[in-house]
Amino acid sequence: MRKTNHAFRGFIFGLSLSLTGLALAAPRPPRQAPANQNPGLALTPPMGWNSWNHYAGRVNQRVARQTADAMVASGMAKAGYIYLNLDATWMARQRDAQGRLQANPRRFSQGIPALAAYVHKLGLKFGVYEDAGLRTCAGYPGSFGHYRTDAATFAAWGVDYLKFDWCNVPLRMTPPMSWHLGLNGKRPGQIALQLYRRMGAALLATHRPIVFSLCEWGLYRVWHWGQTAGNLWRTTGDIRDTWASMTRNGFSQNRLAAYSGPGHWNDPDMLEIGNGGMSNTEYRTQMSLWSMLAAPLLAGNDVSKMTPATRAILENRAVIAVDQDALGVQGHRIWRAGRAPNDREIWSKPLTGGAVAVGLFNRGPKAASMTVRWWQLGLGGKKAPVCYTNLWTHQSAAGNAHGFSGTVPSHGVIMLRAWNGANCH
Ligand code: GLA
Repeated sequence: MRKTNHAFRGFIFGLSLSLTGLALAAPRPPRQAPANQNPGLALTPPMGWNSWNHYAGRVNQRVARQTADAMVASGMAKAGYIYLNLDATWMARQRDAQGRLQANPRRFSQGIPALAAYVHKLGLKFGVYEDAGLRTCAGYPGSFGHYRTDAATFAAWGVDYLKFDWCNVPLRMTPPMSWHLGLNGKRPGQIALQLYRRMGAALLATHRPIVFSLCEWGLYRVWHWGQTAGNLWRTTGDIRDTWASMTRNGFSQNRLAAYSGPGHWNDPDMLEIGNGGMSNTEYRTQMSLWSMLAAPLLAGNDVSKMTPATRAILENRAVIAVDQDALGVQGHRIWRAGRAPNDREIWSKPLTGGAVAVGLFNRGPKAASMTVRWWQLGLGGKKAPVCYTNLWTHQSAAGNAHGFSGTVPSHGVIMLRAWNGANCH
């Protein structure tokens, strides 16, 4: 299975379903729906690594172990990237005689529990991928009809994170199966809500804290109900390692800011930083934008062979601190200019203690001078001096009375942390 074909198919499939989705009434969460989550889990956006963007169907136990080692050795783990998540194709083509999932015998010959133990020993956490439907997107056994068994298997293996995909879900069930499953007459969006909640409940019932990541690509307005099922949800189709794909996913999140918060996050898909399809300027834009969005930071590169530039981008502590800020508020756009897609955008994100993160993004083809006024960030005023730190150059300064101006390279960003105060260091 080639990733490009797969991604393209996924895009067309996603597009057609999103168009269908527009016509359908979106399921609304019942009032006071119980949060189907482990309290205290994912209070800040999950950080880690996932195998898909770089390895796609080629992941194996050597890659996983080598990545775990590299996460520790490179400082990624110290910077906060703690989940090592296997994506698709880790499993065998068949369940075992008891109906349990099993690892692909060729590529994970030592089995998943041994790998989880290896990862845990390094102080990291371990995640896997499954699918809500009959088969995963790559044709491996799906979880449909096995939610409780699979949740129990994952818990027994020491899994800490589950990404649950949406391929091959039988949306047109007929009786008696639909009766049996309590899904008779339900629309696709309602089926999504029901199935994700069921898996969320099955994971909770194991009593192991397992972060639950919903992956229905934003088809059924998952942001309205996702937090009644799990901890994060994809809001877009699959990201690719291109400027167009990354900016489409990232900049489209503005209207979703209200749905995100501690324990429940919008997920515009994983990082492509270091995979080679974009420039370092563009990768700095992804890192900054994802952090402004309080998005999960799941690196998707070969961590064992990072250039110093890739490492500096992924491990920028000041930018990570914006993503991980305890307030857990997703940033939003406060200004834009130019024809769609906007050439220039300014986003702000409130931080704990009254500070504000701000991103000045230049999506256009030429360098541009951009200005943000302190009042746009709720800072400053007559007697309040403003300080700021540039989160990529690490320079701190006292702001002038009005605001900040800088030249932003094409496809680049200036990201600041600004606060009211006289002590700027
Ligand atoms: C779907 C998901 C991707 C990835 C692939 C694996 O397309 O959206 O993130 O997990 O499946 O097959």
